[in-house]
Amino acid sequence: MSKVSVLGAGTWGCAIAILLANSGHDVTIWTKIEAEARMLNENRKSMKNLPGAQMPDQVKITLDLEDACNDKDLLVMAVASPYIRSTSHIASPYIKEGQIIVNVSKGIEDGSLSTLSEVISDEIPQADVAVLSGPSHAEEVSRGIPTTIVVGARTKETARFIQDVFMTDVFRVYTSPDIIGIELGGSLKNVIALAAGCVDGLGYGDNTKAALMTRGMAEISRLGVKMGGKIETFSGLSGFGDLFVTCNSKHSRNWNAGYLMGQGKTMQEAMQQVGQVVEGINSAKAALALAEKNDVEMPIVEQINLVLFEGKASKDALYDLLGRDKRKEYKSLDWE
Ligand SMILES: NC(=O)c1ccc[n+]([C@@H]2O[C@H](COP(=O)([O-])OP(=O)(O)OC[C@H]3O[C@@H](n4cnc5c(N)ncnc54)[C@H](O)[C@@H]3O)[C@@H](O)[C@H]2O)c1
Repeated sequence: MSKVSVLGAGTWGCAIAILLANSGHDVTIWTKIEAEARMLNENRKSMKNLPGAQMPDQVKITLDLEDACNDKDLLVMAVASPYIRSTSHIASPYIKEGQIIVNVSKGIEDGSLSTLSEVISDEIPQADVAVLSGPSHAEEVSRGIPTTIVVGARTKETARFIQDVFMTDVFRVYTSPDIIGIELGGSLKNVIALAAGCVDGLGYGDNTKAALMTRGMAEISRLGVKMGGKIETFSGLSGFGDLFVTCNSKHSRNWNAGYLMGQGKTMQEAMQQVGQVVEGINSAKAALALAEKNDVEMPIVEQINLVLFEGKASKDALYDLLGRDKRKEYKSLDWE
């Protein structure tokens, strides 16, 4: 049994707390938001964002960050991506040397273009920061639906420790040394999910969506490898696995926002209707900046940015993608 604190009491933080508590760990959830803590305490048996799931009574809910960080074997960072830096900053004084923190949030920081584990390491340099990512909707994990995921860590020992803590008979955890590849796949797939939502909203078919997903992953892996990720990671759980689930699921807020835009709504209207943070919208801007910085061609990312921020019609964006110059599928594959 390990002592674990989950920082962030959103949908994913709660699902992870349920998973860990049900396998016998001593779990605390910290949130900065008083109303969220109160709601969670009052509604353990009927959670609005996790229908059919129950928060075990033994899970402690606290507003005291020092208490949450002290004397824990593992901290799970699960606040929404825009708050990773501020949360890490206020937690840092309570974090001991070598404390393992596993980041489960997805995104690229605005401005710095850092991955979220880099942001945590910036603010908490004494921590051993790892990542956990893959096709894992909170709604399903919280109900014990079989799920697989990958943990990326600096050392084999840390990866195996996190694997041991999380693994159950329905939650299978693989290990990997490729932290940057895992994080880039997990963040950038949200951008492609917006585009996939758009083509579904426009009423196109399976062929069109498969094309977007496949060529979208080609863009993500081109950028990811240039930034130091390993090519295998992009066809793995945090790469194609997560892209697949995000582009094909009713649970995905990115897909839903894209769907509404495909039906003619503006980005603002779509965000309002989805009613939660649509991280792909921030990630789209960041992906474009990373593509420019690393001199990588990302045509789908370019077009989705025009749809999101310049009011381009999604149908025009799709036809501009189809009408690009002829080319080979892979530059690396050629005739002798
Ligand atoms: N929901 C999922 O199925 C799922 C699965 C895998 C990964 N993720 C990732 O996990 C992260 C969290 O997602 P979520 O679905 O739980 O989002 P959410 O919107 O349900 O929860 C985000 C949480 O962030 C915290 N927060 C909000 N404002 C804050 C502030 N100012 N300071 C500190 N904390 C604050 C709150 O506890 C809030 O509940 C995202 O990056 C998401 O991509 C989500």
